[in-house]
Amino acid sequence: MSNIAIFASGSGSNAEQIIRYFSRDANHSVKCVLSNKADAYVLERAKNLSVPVMVFNRNTFYNTRQVLDVLNEAAIDVLVLAGFLWLVPDYLLITFPRRIINIHPALLPDFGGKGMYGMRVHEAVIREGRKKSGITIHLIDEEYDRGKILFQAECPVLPNDTPEDLASRIHQLEHRYYPETIKNYLQSL
Ligand code: GAR
Repeated sequence: MSNIAIFASGSGSNAEQIIRYFSRDANHSVKCVLSNKADAYVLERAKNLSVPVMVFNRNTFYNTRQVLDVLNEAAIDVLVLAGFLWLVPDYLLITFPRRIINIHPALLPDFGGKGMYGMRVHEAVIREGRKKSGITIHLIDEEYDRGKILFQAECPVLPNDTPEDLASRIHQLEHRYYPETIKNYLQSL
C-alpha cells in the first residue's frame, strides 16, 4: 500500500491521469496535490477529483517544515513530480530516498538540466534537428534530471513539427505510460 503525493506547477494533465488511474487501484492512492502556483490549473483538476491540495511559496518550501508536515499527516510514502519546476530540497530527498519519481519530456540525458522544461525542451529538440524525442521517467536525486531511469519511450519528430505538435505527441506518451510506470515501480519496492 502506497500513499502518493503529486507535485505540479502547471496544467496538470499528467496529474489528472495519475489520479484517475490510481482511483481504480486498491493498493495505491493519491492523497494530495501540492503546487507552488496558486493559479495552476492542476489545482482545479484535483479539486474536481476530490483530492486535497496545498499551495506553498518559495520560503515555505525551502525554509520551513510545513510541506513535510502535510506529507507526514497524510502518511505519504511516494512523491510524484508531474510538471513540477522547482528543485526538490534536501529535506525531501533525505525523507524519501528512492521514493521521488519525475517525468521529463525528452530522452535524457539529452535536453535535461536547469532551465529545460516544458516547451523549452521541445523547442530545443526541433532547433537541433533531432529525428526523435520521447519521455523519460526517472528517480530524483540531488541533480536536475540525473537519477536512475525507470522507463523511456520514443516518438518521431516530423519535418514540419512545431513545438506544440511535438508537445502534444509527448503528452500522449506521458499519459499512456506515466501512471503504469509509477505502479510498476511501487510494486517492485
Ligand atoms: C510535461 O510534459 C512534463 O514532462 C513536463 O511538464 C509537462 C507538464 O504537463 N515536465 C518538465 O518539463 C520537467 N522538467 P502537464 O502539466 O499537462 O502534466
